[in-house]
Amino acid sequence: MIQLEPHTMAKRLAIATELVRSAQRIVCLTGAGVSAESGVATFRDAQSGLWARFDPAQLASQAGFAADPGLVWQWYMQRLQGVAHAAPNPGHVALAHLQARSADFVLVTQNVDDLHERAGSLKVIHLHGQISQFHCNDCGLRYSLAEADRSAVFPPTCGKCGGLIRPSVIWFGEALPESALDAAWHAAGRCDLFLCIGTSGVVYPAAQLPQIARRQGARLIEINPDETPLSPTAEIHLPGPSGVILPQLVAQLG
Ligand code: APR
Repeated sequence: MIQLEPHTMAKRLAIATELVRSAQRIVCLTGAGVSAESGVATFRDAQSGLWARFDPAQLASQAGFAADPGLVWQWYMQRLQGVAHAAPNPGHVALAHLQARSADFVLVTQNVDDLHERAGSLKVIHLHGQISQFHCNDCGLRYSLAEADRSAVFPPTCGKCGGLIRPSVIWFGEALPESALDAAWHAAGRCDLFLCIGTSGVVYPAAQLPQIARRQGARLIEINPDETPLSPTAEIHLPGPSGVILPQLVAQLG
């Protein structure tokens, strides 16, 4: 984690506040870091406990599901349980305020939890799907999850084709939802301010969004305790937890 002199941090926050105040069209891309202070582990944090010996990228894949559908199902049920017990943190709430006070504010997230919605954000664009939604892995028929199935150790089967039901999150190697991609690309291509919050900026195509925005002249603000590959292109990097920095920024906006 980068440590800045308080004076430097205050100065950067003031500049970032003015950029937000004067922006006409804002796009915000969030990653797992925004949910970290709600107790939802980031994707690249070492997997905790039982899952420490598994590579999340392996579990979140067709190959992983085919190899051991029960293991993948249990991993998602545990993550779903974690999200259900989590609450939006002050960073989620601050983003909802920011959206409410802005004439044109598009929130794009890589997160599969619903904490932005529970904090009051509207029309959230989920690039990687949502863990609380399900569909048949074979025929695509959509399902909601019966309470009973949450404790199941094996995925339920589709009533229509007998295929296995899976969470509607995007697995490694799968295409992102076209409508979400189009909306996010369109917004990044026309914004004048791009906020990059709580993402390592290493997973494409999501990591392309800030680059698209910068290329067409938008200003870029990054909020992340660490440096990322996006940091060199950011006008302002605010090093710290989004649950602390975003409320400060919203408070300064008045
Ligand atoms: N506030 C802000 N940022 C934080 C915080 C915090 N409190 N805690 C951690 N971070 C930062 C980390 O420094 C890291 O850069 O959040 C980032 C989390 O990075 P990842 O775990 O890689 O998560 P993310 O960027 O969302 O991953 C993108 O990759 O594996 C896929 O589908 C998965 O959606 C995920 C995507």
